[in-house]
Amino acid sequence: MKSEPPKSFSRDLTLPDEAATEALGRALASLLRVGDFVALNGDLGAGKTALARAIIRARLGDDDEDVPSPTFTLVQTYEAPEADGAEALLITHVDLYRLDDPSEVRELGLGEALDEGAILMEWSEKLGSLPATRLDITLTLKGDQGARACRLTAHGAFANRLEALNL
Ligand SMILES: Nc1ncnc2c1ncn2[C@@H]1O[C@H](COP(=O)(O)OP(=O)(O)OP(=O)(O)O)[C@@H](O)[C@H]1O
Ligand SMILES: [Mg+2]
Repeated sequence: MKSEPPKSFSRDLTLPDEAATEALGRALASLLRVGDFVALNGDLGAGKTALARAIIRARLGDDDEDVPSPTFTLVQTYEAPEADGAEALLITHVDLYRLDDPSEVRELGLGEALDEGAILMEWSEKLGSLPATRLDITLTLKGDQGARACRLTAHGAFANRLEALNL
């Protein structure tokens, strides 16, 4: 009898410096598919945007791509071309930090963003409910240098993919 796939899978990492965060971003970029929701939470300034930037640059194959924090625009989109066996992907980078009322999120058109691509959402905890299939990433400041603690928890169909990823 086949065993049921795990419903969630967690992994704890220490990211000693920003280069480690960027390497994690490259690894996660290879995992992303249409319909994926990645929730980025944790301390102010812990590196949510830095990690999203690394994912986006890796998937775009362009280390110089300008990836500003979406704190003020709320949403930034990127069109990643098909490359190295990975499908073309619309990436929607969202930051809900300045959102006052969760109902405002409806105006952002994120349902379509998931139909066509992947969402990387900072401060997603401001939303009441999130897609059941998703990757939660929590970054925490560790000491006063550049080290960060990182907890990855993949839910639903994401779990097997995270487990198989060599980090
Ligand atoms: N290991 C690390 N990983 C990520 N960023 C690091 C690391 N070490 C130092 N930094 C620095 O920490 C800062 C992280 O800023 P970033 O804007 O990515 O944080 P954030 O979590 O998105 O903040 P906010 O809550 O305001 O959205 C950057 O200045 C970056 O250079
Ligand atoms: Mg940010």
